[in-house]
Formats: sequence, structure tokens, C-alpha cells
Amino acid sequence: MNSIHRNGVFCACLLHPGAQDFQALAVFGLVDDGPQVGNKLNKGREWMNGSIPWCGPCSNRWTRDSFRYGWHMDDYDLRLVELYDDANPDGPDHEFYRLLADEKNARSILDVGCGTGILTATFVRPGRTVVGIDPSRNMINYAAERVDGRAVRWILGDSRDIPHEAFDYAVMTGNVAQHIPDGEWERTLEDINTALRDRGVLAFESRNPNTRAWENWAAEDPRIRDTMSGPVREWTEASETAPGQVRLTSHNLFMASGHHVVEQLVLAFRDRQVIQQQLADAGFVVDGVWSDWNRTPCTDDSPLMVFEAHRE
Ligand SMILES: C[S@@+](CC[C@H](N)C(=O)[O-])C[C@H]1O[C@@H](n2cnc3c(N)ncnc32)[C@H](O)[C@@H]1O
Repeated sequence: MNSIHRNGVFCACLLHPGAQDFQALAVFGLVDDGPQVGNKLNKGREWMNGSIPWCGPCSNRWTRDSFRYGWHMDDYDLRLVELYDDANPDGPDHEFYRLLADEKNARSILDVGCGTGILTATFVRPGRTVVGIDPSRNMINYAAERVDGRAVRWILGDSRDIPHEAFDYAVMTGNVAQHIPDGEWERTLEDINTALRDRGVLAFESRNPNTRAWENWAAEDPRIRDTMSGPVREWTEASETAPGQVRLTSHNLFMASGHHVVEQLVLAFRDRQVIQQQLADAGFVVDGVWSDWNRTPCTDDSPLMVFEAHRE
């Protein structure tokens, strides 16, 4: 499994009534005819809720969650999930979120869109509860297998599935905000607000649309990255399909096997004023908008916007 194969796409169209979620959530189109990689899904299923019927033609598993989050076809390719941490290692962004947790004396932390859990796991401290939630089955399965993440509660889902536990601190890192389309984004902020205790803190970052970063993403293409799967040739195509909406196509050619994995997603670029208003509408007070991980105040042309807010 768990990459997409043509049968999987076919079944999704026929059987999956929520297939349109495929576009609402983000779009992942995978082009690959190579052999399927090992299925981590089965290993993680004990902690997933719901019964798990078997989809024979796809040789794949799906749960009732699939009807909500989309079929497995709209997931990250496992081969890329496995390379994610190497490409996005711990750094000053993670340190910022960890320090904020300590500064706020957070005893319960929620990581929305936790991905592989690389940051989530590092929040763990004695006496602290840490929850990571992500709608990508492949991401959350990977996270659930982390040796350093055993004390984290991993949840497959989106903001609608956040447990009601009055968290002290919530984060969305790695530009998760940009992965969540309009409408769903506003609801996500409201759900997080509900999930926080009074004066609970939310922090996340988003790229500033003013600097039009996507126009430079292909500047150094193609790149060859040495990975545990051998050299991978990478290149991207990015274009603004509507104001503030950027379609990103990432090509990953595994040079040893010849597998060409293509992922597509749509990123939302929202400007500072829009996000501040959305935060206020969701019941947050904005404490600061920073341009970097040292809390330098954001200006109109800062590439990055780091938002720090608290529940009113
Ligand atoms: C670039 S990754 C960031 C992962 C992680 N936070 C990090 O910093 O490494 C974006 C993540 O957002 C998740 N995501 C996409 N739509 C989401 C949604 N509606 N709610 C929560 N997470 C979402 C994806 O599944 C993916 O794991």
C-alpha cells in the first residue's frame, strides 16, 4: 500500500461518498506505478476508532473516518512521509513553540496538524498531557510509531475531533494553517478556541502573501537530495490559481527505483489583517504577530507571520 494505485482511485470514485472531500481538504494526486510499500496502517489500527472493513480491490483498509476525511487516496505518499523529518528537521521554529509552552507553564498541549509528530513528541514532560491530531492517516500512523512519542495521544482527525479537555496551549506548525482551506479554516479556529481553557494560548505561523514566496520555489530546481531511500530528484511547480490560493505540485523522482511520486496540494495565503480578524471572530485576542522566531515584530514585507493569541 499505501501510496495511490489506479485501483484505489477507481474504488474511491465508486464507493466513497465523501470523495469530494478530496478537494476540500487538500489535493494529493499521486502518479506512480511502482510496487507498493509496507502497510503501516494495519499496525496502527488498534488505536483508531471505528470498525475497519477491507477494501479488496485496493488491498487497502478504510474506516468510517474515511467518509469524513476522504478516502485514502487523498493522503501523503508513505515514501514521502518517511522522508519528511529529514527534510523538515527540528530547528528554531520548534524551539519557539517549545519555549512558549514552558513560558506559559502549559500542562496540556494540543498539536493540530501534527504530521509525523516530530515537534509534538518533544513537548512531552512529566506531568504534561500532549495530544497530536492530524487528518492524514499515513502521517498519524507514522507519528504513532515514534519511539519518542509513546506518551503522546495521537488522534486521526481534524479540529472536529479535538477532545474537550480545556487545553492550556495549542499549536499549528509547519504552515498547517495554509493547508486548511477557507471555511474549514475559520471552523478550525473556532474549534481550537472551544478546546482551550480561558486565557489558553494558540500559536501558529503562516507565510505572508505579500512576498509571493511561491514565485521563487522553483528557482533552484531540480535539486537532488540524498535520502535513506537513495537520491531523490525534486522539483516543484507552483501557480496562483485564485487570489491567495496557490496550487503546488511537488515531483519526487526516486532515482534508484525510478518511481516518480507527484503530490499536489492547494495552499491558502491569507494576509495578516485577514488572519487577525478571523482570530478575533473565533474568540481570540492577538498578543503578537512576529516575523521570526525571536519575536521581531512583523512588517508588511516579512516573509513569515507568527501569530500568538489567547482565548478571550
Ligand atoms: C506541512 S505538514 C506540517 C506537519 C507538522 N505540523 C510539522 O510541523 O512538521 C501539514 C499538515 O497539516 C495537516 N492538515 C491538512 N489539513 C488539515 C486540517 N484540516 N486540519 C488539521 N491538519 C490538517 C496535514 O495532514 C499535514 O500533516
